Amino acid sequence: MSETAHIKLGEQEIDLPVFTGSEGEQSIDINKLRDLTGYVTLDSGFKNTGATKSSITFLDGELGILRYRGYPIEQLAEKSNFMEVTYLLLYGELPTNEQYIEFTDRITRHTLVHEDIKQFFDGFPSNAHPMGQLCSLMCTLSSFYPDALNPHMSANEVDMTITRILAKMPTLVSWIHKKSVGHPIMYPQNKFDYVTNFLYMVFGMRTEEYMPDPVVVDALDKLLILHADHEQNCSTSTVRMVGSSQANAYASVAAGVAALWGPLHGGANQQVIEMLEVIKRDGGNVAKYVEKAKDKNDNFRLMGFGHRVYKNFDPRAKIIKEACDNVLNKLGIHDPVLDIAKQLEEVALRDNYFVERKLYPNVDFYSGIIYRAIGFPTEMFTVLFALGRLPGWLSQWKEMRESGEPIGRPRQIYTGPTQRDYVNIAIR
Ligand code: SDX
Repeated sequence: MSETAHIKLGEQEIDLPVFTGSEGEQSIDINKLRDLTGYVTLDSGFKNTGATKSSITFLDGELGILRYRGYPIEQLAEKSNFMEVTYLLLYGELPTNEQYIEFTDRITRHTLVHEDIKQFFDGFPSNAHPMGQLCSLMCTLSSFYPDALNPHMSANEVDMTITRILAKMPTLVSWIHKKSVGHPIMYPQNKFDYVTNFLYMVFGMRTEEYMPDPVVVDALDKLLILHADHEQNCSTSTVRMVGSSQANAYASVAAGVAALWGPLHGGANQQVIEMLEVIKRDGGNVAKYVEKAKDKNDNFRLMGFGHRVYKNFDPRAKIIKEACDNVLNKLGIHDPVLDIAKQLEEVALRDNYFVERKLYPNVDFYSGIIYRAIGFPTEMFTVLFALGRLPGWLSQWKEMRESGEPIGRPRQIYTGPTQRDYVNIAIR
């Protein structure tokens, strides 16, 4: 492996250091490029640019590998649980039994949100999109914890802030759901674990006892694990960028929620179900929609397909697809859109357009089918993605702070008008 990159620019020749990661990924360190040559690099969408060094998540898009702190996602999804994975992402190692109990107890004890939050919450129309509500409420939470605004918080204060956000998001998400269906909100119960508590607050009613089906708890726990982190995706990069200005964790997470909302990112899981429903209403003619997706004059895209990094199967999509069959069978549900999704995948993966562009199902292609089987309305799907991604956002925000990264401020290449003198054009 080369230790330096030799660059020749006209008469000038320079050597830049090569940095190699623990998995053999290689990068050219361009920190000195502009000082040495006056050049900057240009990389729209950062398709070839590493923004940081990170020890949290590794993925290999060609081989379809995803690991959290070195542990393969397949093993974590099968053997771990969301709280243990959250601890692993935050602190780098799997917890001992004592650490696990302390961590989960600490989160359990902070699941209530300040009653005054309701005044903000009540201001939303009942049909306000859940992601808009979550983004606002997450930032509003910071108003109740002024200590969290201190950029020089101690490690314990950082831990407490992270605990509060992890603990309170499920409560806020459940309240958002309750508003959308016109039901009274439910309060967290300290006797429940994290996922059971969330499902209790979402689907429980004050008029009767409610215990979530263990099949549903397991399915949601697995989905949250699969969404927990994904290195420098759009929303995580946003969290790091906002955090790099020393903005507080609540504001950084709110920014991540905003970025995730986009239909090209986390919003895709809602779009997938809406797309499958359109195909179902159109007689299930998947071939027609595969052709539409290929037609450059048609802005229809196969939502849930394609990925910036995975040029092979998204390992999460494989796990979720298997879980779909398992969960729907156990719940005795037959959802026709699952059959349509499978047909769509089969037709697309035989089509040269998708094969040439290495477009495979991504994490969003099948997840909505499980969310729907559990009973979530489609508009809640992206908020569920945010709930899963929260440990990743917080871990990456924590890593960025601890590594003392500078404020993010990319350069540009200006292409507008060169200097010109002012001449009064408007008649006045
Ligand atoms: C997530 O980054 C992450 O890690 C994200 C994520 C995470 O965990 O955080 O994995 C979660 O966001 C998953 C992606 C969810 N989005 C979708 O499912 C929306 C549909 N997919 C795309 O729009 C697209 O594939 C992206 C946004 C996911 C990736 O876009 P890129 O990398 O910028 O690639 P591109 O848009 O330049 O596409 C390359 C080619 C183009 O065709 P050509 O110009 O070469 O002719 O592939 C085509 C695109 O038109 N293409 C598609 C397509 N996706 C890409 N054509 C039809 N249907 C699609 N879904």
